[in-house]
Amino acid sequence: MSNPLDRYKDSHHEFQQDSEINLVENPFDLFIEWFQFASDSKELEANAFVLGTSSLDHQSSMRIVYLKDIVAQQFVFYTNYNSQKGQEIAENPIVSMLFFYPSISRQIRIEGVCKKVDMELSDAYFKSRPRGSQLGAWASHQSEVLVNSSDLKGRMAELEVRFPNEVPRPEHWGGFQIEPTRFEFWLGKTSRLHERIVFEPQGDGWKNYRKNP
Ligand SMILES: Cc1cc2nc3c(=O)[nH]c(=O)nc-3n(C[C@H](O)[C@H](O)[C@H](O)COP(=O)(O)O)c2cc1C
Repeated sequence: MSNPLDRYKDSHHEFQQDSEINLVENPFDLFIEWFQFASDSKELEANAFVLGTSSLDHQSSMRIVYLKDIVAQQFVFYTNYNSQKGQEIAENPIVSMLFFYPSISRQIRIEGVCKKVDMELSDAYFKSRPRGSQLGAWASHQSEVLVNSSDLKGRMAELEVRFPNEVPRPEHWGGFQIEPTRFEFWLGKTSRLHERIVFEPQGDGWKNYRKNP
């Protein structure tokens, strides 16, 4: 059987790009510019990002979640507060985010501090979700062991009866907001001369500097 990695051994991906990072003062402006560009290009899920958390014993873990909002310069996503990520954030609110946009040769790394959003925001977003997702938020004990997948279907059927009309938001489900403490924008360029620009808070604003690729 051939080694599925063979095709990558001799492939030296070349970025054919000479455009430059548009250096602005506020990293949110650059984030929005790249996010918009990714959404308008071939990226199917520009709002999907890798969320990195770590437990108190320093084990990191990652998973994809969807960016749903930017409120007061904080990135918002929704999840089950009892999930593994929810528990790790409760123990250690320092998290990281990663957006990868291969079709436009870009990566955005963000580090920050995470906390629950106001209940009103979670309520409003929960209300906007389809009924199936609302019931799913009750039915799924996210990240707990599922012995038998029919348990999940059984719980959904019970919930249909329990909530014939409006589905209230379960307390264990809601949003988190991440306040960034660092951004790094990476743009793939010709001959490996990629651009990396870091933004860190300074006074009321942000300072930025470049890094070697
Ligand atoms: C494209 C994609 C989008 C996802 N979006 C979310 C999301 O917004 N919220 C969420 O809780 N899980 C989302 N998930 C599932 C998570 O990746 C993960 O499996 C789940 O949240 C449990 O993670 P945990 O056990 O680390 O808490 C998504 C998965 C994929 C592949």
